[in-house]
Amino acid sequence: MDVDIERVREAFLAADFTLAGVTDRLGEAALAGLARNSSFPARDALGDAADSQARLIRAFILGEQADVAEAARPLLGLEVKPYGWGERSGWIVSDPTPLDGLVAAPRDDFVLGASPASTTLAQMTVRKPAARALDLGTGCGIQVLHLLDHCAEVVATDINPRALALAELTIGLSAEPARASLLLGDLYEPAAGDFDLIAANPPFVMAPPQSSHLVYREGGFAGDGLMRAVVERGAARLREGGMLQVLGNWAIHGGDWRDELAQWIPSGCDALILRRETLDPYAYIELWLADAGTPFGPDYSQWKAYFDSLGIRGVGMGWINLRRADAANPKIRIEDWPHPVAQPVGADIAAFFDAPVLDDAALLARRWTLAADAAQEQYGRPGEADPEHVVLRRRSGLCRFREVTGALAAVAGACDGELPLGDLIGGAAAVLGSDSAALTAQLLPGIRDLVDDGFLA
Ligand SMILES: C[S@@+](CC[C@H](N)C(=O)[O-])C[C@H]1O[C@@H](n2cnc3c(N)ncnc32)[C@H](O)[C@@H]1O
Repeated sequence: MDVDIERVREAFLAADFTLAGVTDRLGEAALAGLARNSSFPARDALGDAADSQARLIRAFILGEQADVAEAARPLLGLEVKPYGWGERSGWIVSDPTPLDGLVAAPRDDFVLGASPASTTLAQMTVRKPAARALDLGTGCGIQVLHLLDHCAEVVATDINPRALALAELTIGLSAEPARASLLLGDLYEPAAGDFDLIAANPPFVMAPPQSSHLVYREGGFAGDGLMRAVVERGAARLREGGMLQVLGNWAIHGGDWRDELAQWIPSGCDALILRRETLDPYAYIELWLADAGTPFGPDYSQWKAYFDSLGIRGVGMGWINLRRADAANPKIRIEDWPHPVAQPVGADIAAFFDAPVLDDAALLARRWTLAADAAQEQYGRPGEADPEHVVLRRRSGLCRFREVTGALAAVAGACDGELPLGDLIGGAAAVLGSDSAALTAQLLPGIRDLVDDGFLA
């Protein structure tokens, strides 16, 4: 594509076709409509305006025929949406989102724009300064924009050449392209070397091989084979201390899903795996048939027969985070966390991996501080002296919560970074008239949980 990126950017800026400009112009209701893939509210907001900003909105967001500045004409037919991340903003170039009840992607090599999965991955990614990062399956290039903020070099791969062409436009318009390399090929194959961070929103949909093959969502592996390959091959590409973060779906064949997922964790890796949602095969099939606009006819039976042939009884959807630690005793937590979270959760994920692994003596000697976002909730009959339940809850990130005893809540509440934990427990034992050693033994497991959940740092 013959595009003069600098001139396109100048044309966009001159017309105030920017995140702030378009937000002001369209207003909250129209933006909410676009988030629902409904264009009517935005058309309503524009009325019959034909100024340069309105024409860019019509051409690149609403998919209308509209005349735009000459420099931007090579992009006609694509979607170009202002996008903000952190303190920055730019544009994301993709294929046009089907609007107004049209669902089917018109071609197999369709390049999706920023989706809810894209923004979830962006917000779960640990944002620490790093030398070298990989975005596997870059699509429109959205993850690269985020990664360039804290990684010196970003490598992005995709099997779809159209995706790489559009990602190049996204990055050229919005970031420093010199620090990013875009490589064509299958999974990790085109990317040489190892990485401090791998972030992937891969084509995780488990579809039968006969189904329409949308490259942005289906990888052509059996069942969850692609997800597993992304995790296992990615772990082998991590530098010491490096992290792999993948969002997606996995098959549940019966039994405990946590045992199945534990098989995916290569030795030498710490892991935090959070299952956010669980679907039965029917709900899963309907979700993805509807996503592609496929009627629930013979395709439904084909999908179900495929799931039966693989013994898939359910599907887990969630977040897989690994860190290469090469420790003798890896730290592994695999759990259901279907509760509401307050994005971004990346800092909480980092805190899990960074939480020190301490023996009892070291735990008791530390001066812990209770997280600023911690709250205490009590449930019970009004007027009763003792609550039936005491819950400690964090109000940011993963919004972790735990039921605790009154004694544990009192000790956690006293953690202000001044006194060692052992002294605080000794003080609580004196107040309660209980034996200090016995209270210590009773509270330590709960204290460890509070450290892992970021209540105590
Ligand atoms: C769900 S999209 C994610 C796009 C983008 N990273 C995001 O977060 O929005 C998955 C991407 O993986 C690419 N892909 C599919 N199969 C692949 C493979 N075998 N190797 C590398 N990339 C692949 C698709 O072309 C698509 O761009």
